[in-house]
Amino acid sequence: MKILAIETSCDETAAAVVQDGLKILSSSVSTQIPFHQPYKGVVPELASRAHVITLNRVVADALKKARLSLDSSKKSARPDAIAVTVGPGLVGALLVGRMAAEAFGWANQIPVYGMNHIEGHLLSPVLADNDVKPPFLGLVASGGHTELILAKKWGDYALFGRTLDDAAGEAFDKVAKMMDLGYPGGPVIDRLAEKGDPSRFPFPRPWLPGTWNFSFSGLKTSMLYRLREKSRWTARDKRDLCASFREAVVDVLTRKTVAAAQLLKVNTIAVGGGVAANLLLRRRFAELCRPLGIRLSIPPIHLCTDNAAMVASAAFYAIRRGDRPAALKVTPQMQIPLLKRKLPGFRPQS
Ligand code: KG4
Ligand code: ZN
Repeated sequence: MKILAIETSCDETAAAVVQDGLKILSSSVSTQIPFHQPYKGVVPELASRAHVITLNRVVADALKKARLSLDSSKKSARPDAIAVTVGPGLVGALLVGRMAAEAFGWANQIPVYGMNHIEGHLLSPVLADNDVKPPFLGLVASGGHTELILAKKWGDYALFGRTLDDAAGEAFDKVAKMMDLGYPGGPVIDRLAEKGDPSRFPFPRPWLPGTWNFSFSGLKTSMLYRLREKSRWTARDKRDLCASFREAVVDVLTRKTVAAAQLLKVNTIAVGGGVAANLLLRRRFAELCRPLGIRLSIPPIHLCTDNAAMVASAAFYAIRRGDRPAALKVTPQMQIPLLKRKLPGFRPQS
């Protein structure tokens, strides 16, 4: 089954074709970063407009690279389904993708499936590491979400923990803004941190004992207070600040995820979302998982950040488990809750 997916939830206009949930036939991503950079963050209205301008070209590119066409006279070369992200995300941006997907589907008699962006990030490791199967513990860390999700079966998810305030990527972005490092902040801080001393500025670790939730807004405030201590910071100071901040975020994300996997006796950890591109996070997870014999799956960087291949892959598993197009509400939603179960609490190890 070949699925054409469209992703416009935030600041990337993306389309992809994936075969049977695993094989990427094409993946086109047009980033809007240059549009938003002057404003040091995503401007929702600009995002919607840029999607409108770019989407047709990106979809055409993805179809061409996959040697597919929407032309009804070429039935064998048509996608079997169209998947589109319907949430969570920016409402205007989501609407552009949804309207385009519905128009393509209606005009060409192809069923349209509305997909959850978080499920896409959760399943993105599978695209690069085809042997990953549930049960696994997923960490989705992006600009809008930080969630620890137990995938029991395909489509059967339990939300184990989530951020109570800022998402991890949001904290990187806000700190970069405070330090005037540009947008998006995660990659800049990561690059500077590689050459910095992570022990020079000890930032607090928000463990939130007794829960599997996360919190990053206090860490961001600590950085704000730290920055107020001096009016001028040298390039070396900035590298050390970035390294110390990154160390605190990564320490909490990785140790809490690994502790949860041990408690749940789940032998696979799968990490997705833009923050999974973080170099220290990737190294630290590997260091923690290796001695415990935990299988770690983190996709290559282009599958961590927003893309449509992950949406096509999630749609494949949804269709395989029997979801009908009509069963999915193709309505943009800023929040889509995952199933919640009562789960045991986190106890930090000394
Ligand atoms: O998944 P994504 O592309 O979009 C959302 O769904 O939000 O994630 C974007 C987020 C941004 O906050 C960005 O700063 C962060 O991922 N990010 C990183 C890195 N690369 C992207 N954060 C830390 N280190 C990175 N290398
Ligand atoms: Zn995302």
